Amino acid sequence: MAEHILVTGGAGYIGSHACAALAQRGFTPVAFDNLSTGWRDAVQFGPLVHGDLLDPSAIAAAFDRFKPVAVMHFAGLSLVGQAAVDPGAYWRVNVMGALNLLQAMVAAGCDRLVFSSTCAIFGDANGDNLHEGSKQNPLNAYGASKRAIEDMLDHFAQAHGLRAAALRYFNVAGADPQARIGECHRPETHLIPLAIAAAAQGGDPLTVFGTDYPTPDGTCIRDYLHVSDLIDAHLLALDHLAQVQGAQRFNLGTGQGASVMQVLQATAQVLGRPVPHEFAPRRAGDAVRLVSGSDRAARILGWQAARSTLPQMIEDAARWHQTGGYQN
Ligand SMILES: NC(=O)c1ccc[n+]([C@@H]2O[C@H](COP(=O)([O-])OP(=O)(O)OC[C@H]3O[C@@H](n4cnc5c(N)ncnc54)[C@H](O)[C@@H]3O)[C@@H](O)[C@H]2O)c1
Repeated sequence: MAEHILVTGGAGYIGSHACAALAQRGFTPVAFDNLSTGWRDAVQFGPLVHGDLLDPSAIAAAFDRFKPVAVMHFAGLSLVGQAAVDPGAYWRVNVMGALNLLQAMVAAGCDRLVFSSTCAIFGDANGDNLHEGSKQNPLNAYGASKRAIEDMLDHFAQAHGLRAAALRYFNVAGADPQARIGECHRPETHLIPLAIAAAAQGGDPLTVFGTDYPTPDGTCIRDYLHVSDLIDAHLLALDHLAQVQGAQRFNLGTGQGASVMQVLQATAQVLGRPVPHEFAPRRAGDAVRLVSGSDRAARILGWQAARSTLPQMIEDAARWHQTGGYQN
């Protein structure tokens, strides 16, 4: 029988891509999701457990039923704007949810975890490329909650022998190359899907927040990674954890930043249509530039990005967008 992997947030954007890749590798991915931002339609590669990480009995029941050999933990809240007005939700859902999950893992004797961390733990980078040891200064409760979970992983590794990899994502984009699943956030806050929607007939113009940043064109710079490359790193991390003890951290970036205006230009080029946009003042809490190398992931996991060019990510995202997204 195929081994089960518990995928929290498996009905969400990145978690559903992890489920697809795990199924391709011969595992049965079990999506554990409360469907607060996820979609039943995205769960195509294994069973769905409709449960909440704030409910320890639901997590325990999932471990009991499926006996997963490892966990990929994607579930959580991740809207920076929402974190500014409701920080408590981020500490409750992200930190309490992770604590409940780790306690259930210890109780069930499941000792491998790959965790979605984020570049938001760093705050701003003052123009330098980030690396694993860069100074951490989260600008909001979202980044702070993820940093707290990274600390929690250390403590559970020391006390309970947990093997964990915290993968710090930068900006994830693109979709399944077969367009079975893709990025469907409502509301959408991510630049590439917003640009694709703006370029569609009758689409609302996109708002560019801040044109006076200290960057070549005045707009913020981010490091975009294709979701398929990101999931490759998860599979490599899962294998790596079978060999090593302790809690590890990896930054997953391409080392190449793109400004907001560069993304809009690339989108217009790929789609062959202009991307209507308007300008607005800076948004509180936005870092100027977040770009990272991934030397550690290359050296230790053997990971390399293969699909993460802007045109490829936009093309894959647009193909998915044309399917009309999820209904349910
Ligand atoms: N998308 C990005 O660019 C990006 C960048 C850095 C980090 N991340 C991290 O990656 C993870 C996945 O991001 P995403 O873009 O796929 O988000 P998403 O919102 O599409 O997926 C999150 C999933 O978690 C589920 N969920 C939320 N709270 C839950 C709870 N209490 N119990 C059970 N399920 C719950 C949601 O229903 C959803 O399906 C998040 O932890 C996010 O912080 C994402």
